[in-house]
Amino acid sequence: MKQKKISISFTEFSGEAELPEDIKNLAIQAKKAADNAYAPYSKFKVGAAVLLANGKIITGNNQENSAYPSGICAERVAIFYANAQYPKVAINAIAIVAFHNNKELNSPVYPCGSCRQVITESQSKQKNPIKLYFIGQKFIHGIDDASHMLPLEFDKESLNS
Ligand code: THU
Repeated sequence: MKQKKISISFTEFSGEAELPEDIKNLAIQAKKAADNAYAPYSKFKVGAAVLLANGKIITGNNQENSAYPSGICAERVAIFYANAQYPKVAINAIAIVAFHNNKELNSPVYPCGSCRQVITESQSKQKNPIKLYFIGQKFIHGIDDASHMLPLEFDKESLNS
């Protein structure tokens, strides 16, 4: 028997001014997308902006439903749309931002487990890692490789093991 350890590292930016130029724009697009979220139940509006390798930005927002589980998160709306429109184009980065009662959160918001699963599946289809940026008003967290968000993941190899 032996103990094993997995650790991850991430970057903390003290504000949007510290972000790379293309990610500053990605954060702006994520905020615009959050504005159009349909979140009458939680009042928690999330925006996600996906930067593709061809330079295009695809955005999504959360879409809630009176039958609660029928709703879907912003990240999956954006990623599934990107995959539907540009199935062969890699994803370089994703920015995520959230507003509660129309106020931007101070701290970064991180994707739920289902979205992590979908993000890592997208990454596994391409060569380059997907960078993630969680935008909070006071600080921002960045991760250089989406798989760090989901250690010990269930993936296509799991189906054959
Ligand atoms: N939500 C997202 O869209 N993305 C996340 O990363 C976390 C949660 C949505 C789902 C639901 O509409 C609302 O936020 C509250 O959970």
